[in-house]
Amino acid sequence: MAPARRTHDARQTLEHLLREAAANEKVIGFAGGLPSEKLFPRSRLARAFVRAMARAGAPGLQYGWAEGSVGLRAFFAERLGRRGAQVTADDVIVTSGAQQAIAIALQLAAPRGGRVALDDDTYPALLDLLRARGLRPVSTLDAAPCAYAMPAIANPCGHGASPSRRRDLLDSGAFVVEDDAYADLHFAGPPPPPLLAQARERVFHVGTLSKILCPGLRIGWLVPPPIFRERALALKQGADLQASSLGQAVVEDYLSGSGVRRASSSLAGNGRLDFDARLVRLRTFYRRRAETLAQAIACHLPSWRFAFPEGGFAIWASTEERLDEAGFLAAAVEEGVSFDPGSQFRADSRDGRPTALRLCFSSVNPVKVDEGMRRLARAFRRAVRRGAATPRS
Ligand SMILES: Cc1ncc(COP(=O)(O)O)c(C=O)c1O
Repeated sequence: MAPARRTHDARQTLEHLLREAAANEKVIGFAGGLPSEKLFPRSRLARAFVRAMARAGAPGLQYGWAEGSVGLRAFFAERLGRRGAQVTADDVIVTSGAQQAIAIALQLAAPRGGRVALDDDTYPALLDLLRARGLRPVSTLDAAPCAYAMPAIANPCGHGASPSRRRDLLDSGAFVVEDDAYADLHFAGPPPPPLLAQARERVFHVGTLSKILCPGLRIGWLVPPPIFRERALALKQGADLQASSLGQAVVEDYLSGSGVRRASSSLAGNGRLDFDARLVRLRTFYRRRAETLAQAIACHLPSWRFAFPEGGFAIWASTEERLDEAGFLAAAVEEGVSFDPGSQFRADSRDGRPTALRLCFSSVNPVKVDEGMRRLARAFRRAVRRGAATPRS
């Protein structure tokens, strides 16, 4: 079978297993990278929804401008300003999640068929975008016109870029798509300054409320370099006209922090205090979950290696055993546990590196974590014993 076809089939097998696992409530699910539903502010969002419906002219049900609500844009700009990036509401485009912002940025920063510099392990849906646009992932910045990076907290490793990596990205001269999706979930406190603060002309800065509020509302943002703003806006409009009016109206009301309808200009100030307190709670919540999972891995899978994450939703672990990934995942699902296979995060799934996996602590009830790792350890032993270990081509 041709390698590309084989890779495609392997991806489909893994996806099938993951869907099967997600549909089975007996499976303890460490896959998927979902935020904890316990942290969705459901009552407050429900009240915000009712108020948004009652607003004169019902803007939440009406068409809006492609760049999105001025209140939200001011809110995002103000938060970036506090991290040292001097941008205004006019510089921000509200997008349908970070995913759309990344897609728009890549269309502008990376010529079709061109090279994009990446970390060795990276966000899977970014790899999908590269495949769809015929872009070539490379690991070196040399001669790459564009780089994609998660300098604050990277998915899947849960670590920020080192000072030298940040410097290399800034010095490279490449356009940088800075994916800041997990920045606010930096366990130690407020996130580091974005690259945007140091290279406004070359950084496409991407953010999202998916990880810190909820993904269902699909609210993200893009700050393109000024010379690309009009083109970015045209691409946004061409893709879906605008981010959901309803999602924006609900979030805007929620962030205003009360039932009183406020002028957009006051959203940043009033929403800020509440939202900062929420972020402190989130960081503590996810750090504790990370600690619980780290202890369980160390106890049940002592041969697996990992570095405790600095933030985010997951622990990235690896083993020297050469495992057949699909066989291992199938054994895990039979045992009642799931994980994200490492190949999903790698541009080349047959590159001979140690078997790795991503274990998400974010959405697993902590009382189930120990049992989950016990099951995973059984699956691991089975995969090794059954001869699922195969030499890699
Ligand atoms: C690193 C990273 N960037 C972007 C996204 C997409 O986020 P959104 O839901 O805002 O589209 C994700 C979602 O998992 C992610 O992990």
